[in-house]
Amino acid sequence: MPAVLDDVSAEILDLKKQLGATILAHYYQDGEVQALADITGDSLKLAREATKVDSPVIVFCGVLFMAETAKMLNPSKTVLLPDLAAGCSLVDACPADKLERYQEKLRINGRKFQTVCYINSSAKVKALSDWVVTSGNAEDIVRNKVPAGYEILFVPDKHLGRYLQEVTGREMILWDGSCMVHEVFSVGDLLKMRRRHPGAKTIAHPECPQNILELSDFVGGTEAMLKYLGGFGRPTEFLVATEPNMLWQFQRRFPQHTYLPVPGITCACNNCPHMARNTLEKIRDCMVNREPEIRWQPEFDRAKDVLARSLLNPPATAPVQPAGD
Ligand code: 13P
Ligand code: SF4
Repeated sequence: MPAVLDDVSAEILDLKKQLGATILAHYYQDGEVQALADITGDSLKLAREATKVDSPVIVFCGVLFMAETAKMLNPSKTVLLPDLAAGCSLVDACPADKLERYQEKLRINGRKFQTVCYINSSAKVKALSDWVVTSGNAEDIVRNKVPAGYEILFVPDKHLGRYLQEVTGREMILWDGSCMVHEVFSVGDLLKMRRRHPGAKTIAHPECPQNILELSDFVGGTEAMLKYLGGFGRPTEFLVATEPNMLWQFQRRFPQHTYLPVPGITCACNNCPHMARNTLEKIRDCMVNREPEIRWQPEFDRAKDVLARSLLNPPATAPVQPAGD
C-alpha cells in the first residue's frame, strides 16, 4: 500500500468498510489496483481464496470468467466486477454452441473422450466440460484425474494444450484458441535480449507459443513463476514473457532481482486490454452503485459442480461420468 493514497484509492478503502467488501485482484491488474486489494493471485488462488472470504461482497478485479467463477463457488455472495466488458480472447474463441456440435460429432464417430476446459472459458463451456483447469493445476488434472483410455478434448487454448501434451504425454484434440497477449511475444526481440543479457533466465507463461517456450528456462503460470523466483537467493536478471503488470508483483515480492519484459510484436508494452478496463474510478463506482453485479445464470448450475470438483480438491468420490454421456 503506498504511503500517501490518492483520492480515489482513499474512497475505495472507505467504501470497502461501509459495504463489508473484500477486494480480489489478479496479478495482471495495474499495480495501483493490486496495491488496494486484500488478496492478489492467479486464477486458481483467487478461485480458492474467494471461497474463504467471510464478507458479504466480493469486488473482483479481473476479467468476467474469473468473477463468474467466484460467484459460482459462492452463490450467496454479491460479486461485483468493475467493468462487465472485461472479457478474454480465449473465451471468445470457443462459443458453447460450436463446442457442443463438435462434441456431438466426436460421439457420433465413436470417440471416447473427456472434455477439459481452461478456466478462461464461458460458464456454458464449463457446463459442457468434465474438468476445468488453470495454468496452476492443469498438469495434475490431466495426469491424475482424466481416466486412461479416454482421449482429451482440450479447449480453448491450443498453446497450453500443446504444452500439456508435451509434459504429460497425453494425446489431445486441441481447440484453435489463443490468448491475444501471450500469442504475440516477439521471438526476435527475445533472442536479442538473451544475447545482451547472457546471465539472464527467461520465464514464460504456458499460454505462449512453442517458439517462446523453447527459449525459456522456466515455464509456468503466474503463481508458479513467483515460486520459481523465490528459489534465487542472489540478485538475478529475468526476461519475462507474460503480461507486464506481473512485474509489479515480482518487484514487490523479490526486489533484489531485475525484471525485463519481453516486448510484443506490435506493441512494446503488450498489456491485456481486458484487464486494463478495471480502473480505480470503475472500482469505486461499482462499489457505490453495487453494479455491475454477476447474477446467477442457468448454466451456472452445472458449471459450478465441474469447477468445485476440479479446483477445490474435494475427497475422491465416484468416477466422473463424461459430460453428456
Ligand atoms: P494464471 O494467472 O492462472 O496463470 O492465468 C493467466 C491469464 O492469462 C489469466 O487470464
Ligand atoms: Fe485472456 Fe490473455 Fe487477457 Fe488473460 S491475458 S484475460 S488469457 S486475453
